[in-house]
Amino acid sequence: MSLDRRQFLLGAAGLGTVVAVGGLSRLDLGVRPQTGVLLRSTRPRPEPFTLPLPIPAIARPTSTDGDVDRYEVTQRRADVEILPGTTTEIWGYDGTFPGPTFATRSGRPAHVTVRNELAVATVTHLHGGFTPAASDGYPTDLILPADVSEVGHRMRGDTTVGERTYEYPLDQRAATLWYHDHAMDFTGPNVYRGLAGFFLIGDDEDDALPLPRDDRDLPLLLSDRAFDDDAQFRYPALSPEQVYPGVSEPYVAGVLGDTILVNGAPWPRADVDRARYRLRVLNGSNARRYELVLDPPPPDGAAFVQIGTDGGLLARPIERGTVTLAPAERADLLVDFGAYPVGTQVELRNRLGSGDTARVMRFDVVRDATDDTSVPAVLSDVADLDPRSATATRTFSFRLERNDRDDEPAVTHHPDQAGAGKHRWVINGEPFSPDTTLAEVPAGATEVWRFSTDVHHPIHVHLGHFQVLDRSGRGLRDGDEGWKDTIDLIPGETAEVVVRFGEHKGRYVLHCHNLEHEDMAMMANYDIV
Ligand code: C2O
Ligand code: CU
Ligand code: CU
Repeated sequence: MSLDRRQFLLGAAGLGTVVAVGGLSRLDLGVRPQTGVLLRSTRPRPEPFTLPLPIPAIARPTSTDGDVDRYEVTQRRADVEILPGTTTEIWGYDGTFPGPTFATRSGRPAHVTVRNELAVATVTHLHGGFTPAASDGYPTDLILPADVSEVGHRMRGDTTVGERTYEYPLDQRAATLWYHDHAMDFTGPNVYRGLAGFFLIGDDEDDALPLPRDDRDLPLLLSDRAFDDDAQFRYPALSPEQVYPGVSEPYVAGVLGDTILVNGAPWPRADVDRARYRLRVLNGSNARRYELVLDPPPPDGAAFVQIGTDGGLLARPIERGTVTLAPAERADLLVDFGAYPVGTQVELRNRLGSGDTARVMRFDVVRDATDDTSVPAVLSDVADLDPRSATATRTFSFRLERNDRDDEPAVTHHPDQAGAGKHRWVINGEPFSPDTTLAEVPAGATEVWRFSTDVHHPIHVHLGHFQVLDRSGRGLRDGDEGWKDTIDLIPGETAEVVVRFGEHKGRYVLHCHNLEHEDMAMMANYDIV
């Protein structure tokens, strides 16, 4: 208890450092719901709720022979209509944003060949997957563009040219996963350009529940973007040609766009039946947090019934009036539009935004319908991981560091970034390097990991799913229940989680999923041994 208290005070003191930093000084970080700075569009965006909600296409396997489903997907540039009457260049899987949705099955391996037809090196990571290290999308395991012959100093990992096949065993329970770019130093700009999509795993347990399906099971990828005069995505990269990482000074805290996209469309609307829906909400934003509410709320009962989280179904449904999601977190929600009369327009709003960023999308209740779904009292058998079975306790501290030495670049793992500013985001005082490790974890081990923080950091652990034990001596926050792979750390907080690691040996990363922080070095290796 006293330790937690001291950590909390240390954390609060840490905020002083952040407030002193250039572009961050205007912000009252103590009460801000976000760590990030708003980047505005310089052209008009459409009226909210005028465009239809897009649903990403389902990826079709190229072969389902034997024990494995094979898929091929191509990363390419495409000009897509996001703002009506004009086009925006995206970098997308199969040229779409979001990319195609993979609808896979627990226990049935999927091998996904990713072709890179972009002009930059990429890496694809299956977020939430229990994946062997060689297929996990380690940040230097690059797929170089097919037509690039000279690779230079960046070729330091297990690099391939043109394409790579990722092998996913999918030996894990049903859950809403996602895949996205993970190239070292450039994940932020690459994901911002569109390199992300859903990866769903289904199983018999989930199928046996009386839950909404098909057209009433909607994946919703939330993201925020800013647009320039030519309707192109604005992103404040220091080096758009990707020679060195980082964003310009005021955005070091994170890039917040002023336009909320759902499945790639600005503030869309969807017609819904008077029936229960399953909404698989993924925060795919670089830095923005959301606190979701329905307006109007249903006449009685809670707006949302949460049934799942990052790692799949909860043990029991939880009624919520609001749902908070940090970058990379997922919430599997039931909403009963049967509670509203036909003709009701139900807005999904974001209480952490204001004006345009308080709006997300709208559901229009357009027709009566039969509905044989229900909310089961019990969803899944989720055993509590016993922290007493942990074989080690480790502490990771996530902080902004100011580097005042003129002769040393801000982010030291890359030789070409002398212009990258004076700040870096570090874990235990160390900027990311592919060559060092913070922990050696025995395969299949259970450990207690303690995360302490200065500002908001959504912390993600590859390979290890975890359960939250405590936050600074005050127990759990809403949304901490069940199996998680990302935790939304609140300023000044020390959180404790109990992690169960996978059996695959090799080098994995943990990192902040604020993608500007991640690119500016807030990532570390741990090794499964
Ligand atoms: Cu969603 Cu390491 O990433
Ligand atoms: Cu991940
Ligand atoms: Cu962070």
